[in-house]
Amino acid sequence: MAAPAPSPKSVPRPISKIAAGNLRRDQDLTPAELRAVLDLAHEVKAHSRDYLDALRGRFIALLFEKPSLRTRLTFELAIGQLGGGSVSQTGMIGEREPVKDVARNLDGWVDGIVARTFAQQTVDDLAHWAEAPVINALSDLYHPCQILADLQTLEERFGNLKGIKVTFVGDGNNVAHSLMLSATRLGAHFTLAHPRGYGPKAEVVAEAKKLAATGGGKVKITLDPEEGVEDADAIYTDVWASMGQEHEAYERMVHFEPYRVDEELMAKAKKGAVFMHCLPAKRGQETTDGVMESRHSVVFQQAENRLHAQKALLLMLLSE
Ligand code: CP
Ligand code: NVA
Repeated sequence: MAAPAPSPKSVPRPISKIAAGNLRRDQDLTPAELRAVLDLAHEVKAHSRDYLDALRGRFIALLFEKPSLRTRLTFELAIGQLGGGSVSQTGMIGEREPVKDVARNLDGWVDGIVARTFAQQTVDDLAHWAEAPVINALSDLYHPCQILADLQTLEERFGNLKGIKVTFVGDGNNVAHSLMLSATRLGAHFTLAHPRGYGPKAEVVAEAKKLAATGGGKVKITLDPEEGVEDADAIYTDVWASMGQEHEAYERMVHFEPYRVDEELMAKAKKGAVFMHCLPAKRGQETTDGVMESRHSVVFQQAENRLHAQKALLLMLLSE
């Protein structure tokens, strides 16, 4: 008698590779690869036990120039839950010895490098000098791992990103850059409402607009938060002063005050709109305790998905 066919659930999907070999910035993923990371993220979230050995014997170095709760712990957990191991270090990369030397030391020991940096150049230099895949765990310019989890969260809520409107209210920073680059490539419409003088980098907007056109998404930039959130399906915000900008916090407060995502601004979005934040949040500044704790808030779902999305990313960069 023929053996029963295995349950489809217990057969992990074939894992495709990321051609760029790194995730230095969002654009390192083609739209098809971005789609594949998200599909795999949904799959590993639903069937995590099927991937317990997927990275057995693979080791990854985690380098952090800045503090972290979510990114650092979810990378450590993701690697461990896939059967691999990690080592980590806190401190400036390239201060005690050149970045190119750090990269080649690590290359002799580990299969991958995860780095949170101030300068994007540090991530780029690590990727240039190391054979091992390099993952940007946040730089001053981009936060691509965050956005993978955010897109997973939006797909869980809306089913599909095509045609949904995502509005970021606040600083044109790393998170805003990555969100505009990635959401639009999967067909979402992205609006950024920012205070004058705190807009995104012009070259990132130009690139996002070009990439969005192929995915069917749109990029819009405005100074008016009320206009920005009109008809929005999701409102996203982040701290007014990012890591490394703490000395500007007081001055920024004056400019950002009208951009607080409070209950009143949420009410101007679509009924059923979700509230998103990468965390950590400063309640009373960029948002309120009421919005964070409201039924609109998906912030902890985003945080949970960091684990699943990064597992998918690691599998696509590291599995054989
Ligand atoms: N959202 C995020 O990257 O959080 P951490 O700074 O705690 O890693
Ligand atoms: N824009 C913030 C994000 C923190 C996850 C920062 O860079 O500090």
